[in-house]
Amino acid sequence: MRNKVTKAIFPVAGLGTRFLPATKSVPKEIMTLVDRPLVQYAIDEAREAGIKEFIFVTSRGKGALEDYFDHSPNLEQELRKKGKDDLLATLQDTNMDSGAIAYIRQHKALGLGHAVWCARRLIGNEPFAVMLPDDVIAAEKPCLKQMIEAYEETGGNMVAAMEVAPEKTSSYGVLDVKEDMGSVVSVNGMVEKPKAEDAPSNLAVIGRYVLAPSVLRNLNEMKQGAGGEIQLTDAIAQDIAQDTPVYGYRFKGQRFDCGSKAGFLQATVAFALAREELREDLMEYITDITQVSRAAE
Ligand code: UTP
Repeated sequence: MRNKVTKAIFPVAGLGTRFLPATKSVPKEIMTLVDRPLVQYAIDEAREAGIKEFIFVTSRGKGALEDYFDHSPNLEQELRKKGKDDLLATLQDTNMDSGAIAYIRQHKALGLGHAVWCARRLIGNEPFAVMLPDDVIAAEKPCLKQMIEAYEETGGNMVAAMEVAPEKTSSYGVLDVKEDMGSVVSVNGMVEKPKAEDAPSNLAVIGRYVLAPSVLRNLNEMKQGAGGEIQLTDAIAQDIAQDTPVYGYRFKGQRFDCGSKAGFLQATVAFALAREELREDLMEYITDITQVSRAAE
């Protein structure tokens, strides 16, 4: 019987430079899609996948993130007094059980691999998930749940994968596919941010992982990879040579890259259109402005 995956690491220690000046004082993960911060979408997805322990790797200036998951007695009392039960219920999602959430500091932004390694003592010797909150995935069955179900069959390491255009491979870790079995592909290796001509496939890794604890041991060696950063994909790929297989998982759903402005705006529109109370007004507005811009062409 495989160990259940009950712990997830959320690396949120990056500088978020693409959203400066906003991220000078607001952590990227607190930026909102409609009325919920990016991190809430990630937490909801993790909960639905059976995660019980939430480990955030943070850095200086991420205080708002810690406050977000704290209880807010004054606000709750005010809402109760005013009989605003619906808003009180909304706040419930932001509350964490005592001891269910932990914060670890990454003192220097040395890369995603290093951020994950910072949480090693809280993981111990069991499989774990890694979720990047700036990848938001709209899916009928939450992406991490799909992956954990597949992982229960395969074991090893599993990374979320999606097809990208050849000119986009240089923004991702890319899979060198050994065998394509449909939703699951087995992997010979992974290349971090290859140019289109060097990419072994067009299957790119995005921000959901189910990993074996051996990846943390690989990270102990701390080799710098692409861009001088300590890369998580390198530590995962190293497992293949050590006989722990790596699989890519073609998830069902739509992924938004909310770490980029264009992706964030697209997600805002998509999530707003999915909300009944906003859909009609927003559709009307979008139709109006597209007509105006077409007329201007
Ligand atoms: P990104 O590459 O998106 O970097 O990191 P970033 O700093 O967040 O954003 P930009 O590029 O400057 O705008 C991917 C994920 O890895 C985390 C980030 O917080 C983000 O969730 N990360 C990255 C760390 O936690 N530590 C690092 O050293 C690097």
